[in-house]
Amino acid sequence: MWNCSFFAFLFFFLIIPQQNCSPVTSPPADLINTTCKQCADKYPTTFSYDFCTTSLEPIPISHVTNLQGLALIAMELALENATNTISKIERLLSSGEFDTFTLWCLKDCMELYRDGVSMLVTSIGVFMIEQYDVADLLLSAVVETASTCEDGFKERQGEAFPLTAQNDNLSQLGDIALCIINLLSVAPSL
Ligand SMILES: *[C@@H]1O[C@H](CO)[C@@H](O)[C@H](O)[C@H]1NC(C)=O
Ligand SMILES: *[C@@H]1O[C@H](CO)[C@@H](O)[C@H](O)[C@H]1NC(C)=O
Ligand SMILES: *[C@@H]1O[C@H](CO)[C@@H](O)[C@H](O)[C@H]1NC(C)=O
Repeated sequence: MWNCSFFAFLFFFLIIPQQNCSPVTSPPADLINTTCKQCADKYPTTFSYDFCTTSLEPIPISHVTNLQGLALIAMELALENATNTISKIERLLSSGEFDTFTLWCLKDCMELYRDGVSMLVTSIGVFMIEQYDVADLLLSAVVETASTCEDGFKERQGEAFPLTAQNDNLSQLGDIALCIINLLSVAPSL
């Protein structure tokens, strides 16, 4: 399965900044806060400071890493979320609880999320070789995936869509990675 080896691979990259920095000083303890604040200031209408800090803070490695590491963590969380969402859609599809319209939306979202997962995997790969512009394009498409999934359902009014929280989280995690890539592109020496 690509899952296991992929996460091992990712972990290998995440510990590199730590090894490089450890002999010098302890890492900036407020990197998460500073970065989330910068992004919230930059995108005041779409970016949630609270979501950003609460997403990144529980990940232990994010306390000892650099800006690149934070972007990777956001992408890894997005990948984990999107993968879990696919399992959720599978469960919903076989639950027998939904009418034709909702089933159609769910199947549509399944396709979107499958593409989203493969775009996320690719975006992590190109991010690691510092092709930030390609990563940016892919992540923008992932964020678009979430809103396309949601929009399909919005054609019918007055009902709750079982994937709204998933779509919202995926687009916010994508936004965190996109903002950090933007910060890295503006100031590559960070
Ligand atoms: C980050 O911000 C949160 C609340 O916004 C605060 O509780 C925490 O102490 C801050 N952490 C650092 C290291 O500044
Ligand atoms: C999805 O991302 C959110 C926000 O970072 C995180 O709290 C949550 O654990 C993730 N959920 C899953 C199922 O991966
Ligand atoms: C969405 O993100 C929030 C905030 O991190 C989290 O509490 C919630 O469990 C997430 N929902 C899903 C479905 O992943």
